[in-house]
Formats: sequence, structure tokens, C-alpha cells
Amino acid sequence: MLIDGDDMQVLGISGSMRKDGNTSRLVTIILKQCEEKGLTTEFISLADKKIHPCIGCEKCKKEHECSITDDDWEDVASRIFDCEVLVMGSPTYYYDVSGQLKNFIDRTYSYYHDRRLAGRKAVAVSVEADKGGSRTIQTIEGFLSAHEFSYLGHVKGKGYLAGDVMKDTDAIADAKKIGDKIARLFHTGH
Ligand SMILES: Cc1cc2nc3c(=O)[nH]c(=O)nc-3n(C[C@H](O)[C@H](O)[C@H](O)COP(=O)(O)O)c2cc1C
Repeated sequence: MLIDGDDMQVLGISGSMRKDGNTSRLVTIILKQCEEKGLTTEFISLADKKIHPCIGCEKCKKEHECSITDDDWEDVASRIFDCEVLVMGSPTYYYDVSGQLKNFIDRTYSYYHDRRLAGRKAVAVSVEADKGGSRTIQTIEGFLSAHEFSYLGHVKGKGYLAGDVMKDTDAIADAKKIGDKIARLFHTGH
């Protein structure tokens, strides 16, 4: 985890309203793997954040900042500027990302006009109980592609109740593998 004054290298965001749910756990496994290889990471859950939906006012096109200021969106979104790699995860809700993550993504329109997030790298994570997780990944990929992130790949897990994903040994192995891939970008030599 991040120690005050350290530069953050990898930022993990979970879009689940379950703070300690499956998405948080899968994202955290990736971050832990990065930490073991010597990288600095930070994890943010959107569960306790207030994030209003984009209202489509288009003011950000001119002013380059979001006109909505009475919530937590800016605090979280601006952390992306400080990372090299973003790990963005969502539970699957009706074959897609959660409403909370969609609100978060839509609000990044204010960063889109001048591609302020471009050049960073990213990983997409989803958890499904049964099906629809691929579309969840596709939505996150759409966000990443629009903002011109370089895409490192995805991890898709299975689980229903909070914690179930820890039984998905394939997903856990994939999460560790992608953590190693992130670490190799930094040539930490661990
Ligand atoms: C509103 C809602 C919609 C859901 N829709 C789907 C779905 O379309 N497909 C699926 O496989 N699971 C669906 N689920 C189950 C969740 O994806 C599953 O419980 C997941 O593990 C939740 O991850 P979390 O613990 O990170 O919140 C849904 C759950 C909720 C609450």
C-alpha cells in the first residue's frame, strides 16, 4: 500500500457497492502481487462514495472540468492522474458494469475532450455469478479505449456471495499473472 510521500504506480478501483465483495478482492489480489514485486499501489472502493450521474450539460467541453462538484467523483477520478497503471473492476449487473461505476465512467467525459488520461496503462476486472461478465469487461474496455489507455488485459472471476470469488482458482491465478505483467513494466527485478 501507499506510504505518504511515495509515488503511486498502480491504482485499483472497485465499482462494487459491496466494500469487501468479490470485485474488491480480485482487484486487491492484483495489487498485492504488484506490491510483492516492489510496486506502490492504492485501492479505492466506490462503495462509500457519492457519485452523481453525468447530466449531459456539455459545460466540460469548454471548461475542461465537471460542473458537478458536490460529490466524491473528482477526489477519486483525479487519483488516476497519479498512477501509471489503472486496474478497474466491476461486478456484473444485468450483463454490464454496476450503476455506480457507470456514473463514475460517464463523469470522466470532462477528462475526455483533451484526452487527459491518455498514455496510461490499464487492466479490466469483472465478477459474475453466472453470465454477462464479458460484456462488463467490454464496457470497461470501451472506457479505456476512448481515453487512449494502453490495454494490458482482463481478469474475469465467478462468485455470487461476497468472498465466493476466492474459490475461483483460475481467476486468482489470472489475477496474479496480470500483477506480474504489470510489475514487469517497471523492471523492478524482484
Ligand atoms: C443488481 C444485480 C444484478 C446482477 N446481475 C448479474 C448478471 O447479469 N449476471 C451475473 O452473472 N450475476 C449478476 N449479479 C450477481 C453479481 O454479479 C455477483 O454477486 C458478484 O459476485 C457481485 O460482485 P461484488 O461482490 O463485487 O459486488 C447481479 C447482482 C446484482 C445485485
